[in-house]
Amino acid sequence: MQNLFLAKHIYCNLGDITQLDCDCIVNAANKSLLGGGGVDGAIHRAAGPQLLTECRTLGGCETGQAKITGGYRLKARHIIHTVGPVYSGSPRDARLLADCYQNSLTLAAAHEIHTIAFPAISTGVYGYPLAEAVPIAFTTVSQWLSQHPESDMTVILSCFHRRIYEMYQVFARGKNP
Ligand code: APR
Repeated sequence: MQNLFLAKHIYCNLGDITQLDCDCIVNAANKSLLGGGGVDGAIHRAAGPQLLTECRTLGGCETGQAKITGGYRLKARHIIHTVGPVYSGSPRDARLLADCYQNSLTLAAAHEIHTIAFPAISTGVYGYPLAEAVPIAFTTVSQWLSQHPESDMTVILSCFHRRIYEMYQVFARGKNP
């Protein structure tokens, strides 16, 4: 599936993030960084066992933070692992989810990454409602890109399901009528 333009330097893609040919894909991991289900499981399966070997050296990751590894068997050169908040309905959730996108983008820029794909962090196992997560993801990415023009970064919002693919488009249209 082709990348669909949403806004300047922001696209969305309907499909499997592990198949994307970009500099870096982001993993919605857990604090152990030792793999799991969902996109975490898909990325570890596609990248191969060397990914887990490297992850074991990272010492875990706090919620909202991000760490980087190689991409191994993926087309992507790098994987950035970030840990989203488990949805609880507290105002802190939104801050932590925004931190995942901001810290991943800052880490990517520091590694000369120029194309990065994000799954919809926390919207699966961690229960973040799409209606709340989509605006946070799009707005945080859009603000970071406008604050860091020197990064020459392009962001792909990877959607495993059509519903979220459509929600990103509706939200982006609302922001850029
Ligand atoms: N490509 C793109 N997106 C995917 C893929 C994939 N191959 N597989 C799943 N997704 C989407 C889900 O549909 C959801 O929209 O990624 C989003 C995040 O869902 P999860 O993978 O469940 O991640 P999250 O909600 O952040 O929960 C993290 O789940 O897998 C475990 O180890 C992980 O404990 C951690 C928790």
